[in-house]
Amino acid sequence: MDFQPTLEQQLGLGANEMTSRIIRLGWVGRGDNDRTHVEASMVQSRRIASRVAAAHRHPTRRACSIASVTTFENAFITGASSGIGRGLAERLGRKGTRVVLAARREAELQTLAESIRAHGGHADTCVLDVADTDATRKAIRHWNEETGGLDLVIANAGVGIMKPAHRLSWEDVEPVLQVNVLGAFATLLAGLEGMVSRGRGTLVGVSSLAAMRGLPKSGAYAASKAALATFLETLRTDLDRKGIRVVDVRPGYVDTDMTRKNKFKMPFLMDVDQAADLTLKGIERGDAIVAYPWPTASAMSLAQALPNPAWRFISKRIKM
Ligand SMILES: NC(=O)c1ccc[n+]([C@@H]2O[C@H](COP(=O)([O-])OP(=O)(O)OC[C@H]3O[C@@H](n4cnc5c(N)ncnc54)[C@H](OP(=O)(O)O)[C@@H]3O)[C@@H](O)[C@H]2O)c1
Repeated sequence: MDFQPTLEQQLGLGANEMTSRIIRLGWVGRGDNDRTHVEASMVQSRRIASRVAAAHRHPTRRACSIASVTTFENAFITGASSGIGRGLAERLGRKGTRVVLAARREAELQTLAESIRAHGGHADTCVLDVADTDATRKAIRHWNEETGGLDLVIANAGVGIMKPAHRLSWEDVEPVLQVNVLGAFATLLAGLEGMVSRGRGTLVGVSSLAAMRGLPKSGAYAASKAALATFLETLRTDLDRKGIRVVDVRPGYVDTDMTRKNKFKMPFLMDVDQAADLTLKGIERGDAIVAYPWPTASAMSLAQALPNPAWRFISKRIKM
């Protein structure tokens, strides 16, 4: 018997109200005259979507994962100079993890390292451009030896760009792929080397809810995050029996330097401290996917389960 609550049950809504709310999430413009068509498609796919979405809030799943919380000795974090990476580093530092803070802005890294040390933690800095994949792999190998073994490696560094396809140039796309794809893959693979030999460790990639469906004006960014999400999924499958956990963090909108330049209304914009708390909890539990905030995560799960024509109809009307 299947005791998983449907998406409507979780939200306490009826099917029609549920559909209307998804449409009204703030992404779809007013005056959509073909709404009945979309509603029909959405209701049709509701059964599949509710199973996917239930994973975000299913109590049994949460109860199971709470049982195995991991603490970390030595962590390497890219993109630690601001935003989510900085929040993660602060929290890990407070918990006694030795953190290696990597990014390009040295002054920000030094300030953070001093603040972690002032609170009794242990922090080192590593000035690094992850687009230089040789330097990235060298740095991680170095810190793996220096710390006596990294048991947590977080590929968090990322850059974003929002432009419609007809204005997108190769100069826009290439750096996004270099940082979000090549930089992240190099970080994860170099981190993996030491973990395989020790038979334990946690690899984390910060992808995005944008990885889950082709969103407007997000071609380069969403595709780069989809590549990372798929890479993480494959790593998880291959490393399942090797004692290595693989966590895919999928934030929605979080209030950081990256999103402050956005001029559109960001649904369910989350405070960076809350995002860092949720991310670290998910990492400690070794969750396969850590997706937040839950309304956006559920909407994206539903979007993923929608038939392509319904998504084409909706995506053209999303305001970004
Ligand atoms: N904010 C959101 O709404 C959101 C949503 C989904 C996913 N994410 C993902 O979350 C991650 C963190 O982003 P954030 O929101 O915290 O934004 P952020 O405050 O702009 O942080 C981005 C970090 O990445 C680092 N970085 C960028 N390019 C780098 C490079 N070439 N080499 C090394 N480090 C580099 C930056 O440091 P330096 O500039 O000092 O190098 C900075 O520390 C990113 O992967 C982003 O795609 C964010």
